[in-house]
Amino acid sequence: MNILLLFISPGNTTAKVSRALAERFEENGHTVTLLNIGRPGNRTYTEVDPEIFQSADIIGIGGPVFHLRNLPPLEAFLSNMLPLLNPLTKAFLYVTYGGISSGKALLNLSELLDRFHVPIMGAVKLWAPHFYNRMVYPDLDALLVIDRFISGLEKNDYRPIEPLRLRELFSYQSPKVKIAYYLAEIVGESRKLPITFDANRCKGCQRCVAECPVGALRLYGIPVRDKKKCLYCYHCAIVCPSQAVICPTEKVAEMVKTNVKLLGWEQPRNEIFL
Ligand SMILES: Cc1cc2nc3c(=O)[nH]c(=O)nc-3n(C[C@H](O)[C@H](O)[C@H](O)COP(=O)(O)O)c2cc1C
Ligand code: SF4
Ligand code: SF4
Repeated sequence: MNILLLFISPGNTTAKVSRALAERFEENGHTVTLLNIGRPGNRTYTEVDPEIFQSADIIGIGGPVFHLRNLPPLEAFLSNMLPLLNPLTKAFLYVTYGGISSGKALLNLSELLDRFHVPIMGAVKLWAPHFYNRMVYPDLDALLVIDRFISGLEKNDYRPIEPLRLRELFSYQSPKVKIAYYLAEIVGESRKLPITFDANRCKGCQRCVAECPVGALRLYGIPVRDKKKCLYCYHCAIVCPSQAVICPTEKVAEMVKTNVKLLGWEQPRNEIFL
């Protein structure tokens, strides 16, 4: 089968999960195409060869949870692209999250796919380290879950799940998190850290420009940021080899601690929905 893994991954974690999924599918004899929609040339569906969408028997859709949601560019891309899929294409979903709350990411994605009559065969949620945690990822736990998820899809003969049952499966959040969902956007807005560029340090290497998942940076001597497009993922600050991006990223760890105090760690950390 032709499997398309379409994902966004500002910090590269979902990309690593996508590669692990691809390896496992390939071992089982499938052909896999990886489409990272955060890379130049892939950011809008019109830039991508439509054959990639039309030839997919299965589409896996992946992304991280930011403020209890999917990233808006992923949902925007899908809204335009899903009508191009072959009517027989079936989907599965995967999200990575920092462990506090995977929120409504799966539920919202499933509702979006339902609007375009794309059947869903299952989903997997994976705990993943925040960018400041240097652990090797995917770890053994994550690889085992990926393995079990793919075996489960195969065992079910890639059968779609009824939309009503999907709604039930993806409504697993605690009442606390369901309330927090409506506040998360406002809280996220108030927590945006300042991002500026130091002209004396910047070597103009363009790494931040190329790796920004939404193309929010342009180099005019030094990078200039489009604040409206910016996701505040801080990837530019992390990858700059010259420490030219001035941003207090250490504050993210403090924010995570506050979130853990308010919401606790989500249990189970990893989960398969079939
Ligand atoms: C701005 C921001 C908001 C985040 N919000 C959440 C959240 O609401 N819940 C959670 O569990 N993790 C949250 N995370 C953690 C990410 O979901 C997690 O690190 C994810 O694996 C990142 O994937 P990526 O490396 O593919 O971008 C957030 C991370 C960032 C940078
Ligand atoms: S400019 Fe914004 S979206 Fe782009 S990498 Fe930096 S923080 Fe992320
Ligand atoms: S990665 Fe750093 S040095 Fe390279 S262009 Fe961006 S800010 Fe300048």
